[in-house]
Amino acid sequence: MYHTVVKKLLETKPDMDVIRQAGQILQTGGLVAFPTETVYGLGANALMAEASRKIYAAKGRPSDNPLIVHVCKFDDLKNIVLDIPQQARLLADTFWPGPLTMIFRKNDRVPLETTGGMDTVAVRMPDSQIALALIQEGGGYIAAPSANLSGRPSPTLAEHVYEDMNGKIPLIIDGGAVGIGIESTIIDLTESTPVVLRPGYITLEMLAGVIGEVCMDPGIVSEDSRVRPKAPGMKYRHYAPKAEMILVEGPQEKVIAQINYLTKEKLKSGKKVGIIGTEETAERYEHGFVISIGERQEEEMIAHNLYRILRELDESGVDIIYSESFSTLRMGEAIMNRMLKAAGHQVIMAE
Ligand code: TXA
Ligand code: MG
Repeated sequence: MYHTVVKKLLETKPDMDVIRQAGQILQTGGLVAFPTETVYGLGANALMAEASRKIYAAKGRPSDNPLIVHVCKFDDLKNIVLDIPQQARLLADTFWPGPLTMIFRKNDRVPLETTGGMDTVAVRMPDSQIALALIQEGGGYIAAPSANLSGRPSPTLAEHVYEDMNGKIPLIIDGGAVGIGIESTIIDLTESTPVVLRPGYITLEMLAGVIGEVCMDPGIVSEDSRVRPKAPGMKYRHYAPKAEMILVEGPQEKVIAQINYLTKEKLKSGKKVGIIGTEETAERYEHGFVISIGERQEEEMIAHNLYRILRELDESGVDIIYSESFSTLRMGEAIMNRMLKAAGHQVIMAE
């Protein structure tokens, strides 16, 4: 058990004394949670097997699910990978620091504990002054999964990290609310055609605009559960609230009517119901605990609010959540990917 300390830092001008203390914890094999532009990360020295093992223990994470290594300079990449494809340089020039993770063939400096036994390694450079300074002070290579307990929604506030990690780690750096709110896009550059393993803020179209042909891993879009995703983490039902969640698809009027009907039925049987609606629709839900996720057209806002809302619904003690569903255009692809996972792929058509 640790007494978990929370230190507030300014993203624009982080207190370097705190960063150096945190760097010292990382250098000596300890864990520190810190903000990035996507979600909060749970950091450890990526080149120390023992430190990576602590991450799996704190999160309760399956040991075959590899970690992302965070760097603060493109040049550091060469020390941990076997080769750097030209596409990686182009993508880093355009999107780093930023919400893009690239997969490379790893070299022997990266322990198998960090990569969940795989011979490839995922690397990204986060767009956060706090994160970049901490990576530098922590030795340059920081493994960091999202700082939630395995199976819970990723943390977008330091308070979420505290809920999940209190007593398990010595230090949480609180940099306020993250900007994006869903995890980085992951692209695998070890295949002849680069493959997106997890959709995120950087869309397939944005990637293709820089490197040409890119495809989506069939394992994350297929309805057939026998088609397994290539990123081990994408196969778990995570990002998930405690309550059962069901997405309702169809024309807006029908969706509202269907959710109102289902809610009434559940209430009759004594269940508590949560509803995820939008600014446009929230007031049309007659019963249940209704939360608006934002304006339907504002994908960035929806992404920003999603995980916080899933945690709020958990706290409200609802038994079941009905949610509207969203378009899969642009960042909508990432939003619906997370929502479908939260719902364990339970979708009904409103008719
Ligand atoms: O935005 C993010 O990427 C956040 C912040 C903290 O940087 N991190 C994050 O890490 O989302 P995590 O551990 O929650 O998700 C990492 C995902 C998992 O689905 C994992 O299976 C996949 O990346 N992954 C990591 N290394 C991989 C590899 N070598 N091959 C395939 N998938 C890999
Ligand atoms: Mg995660």
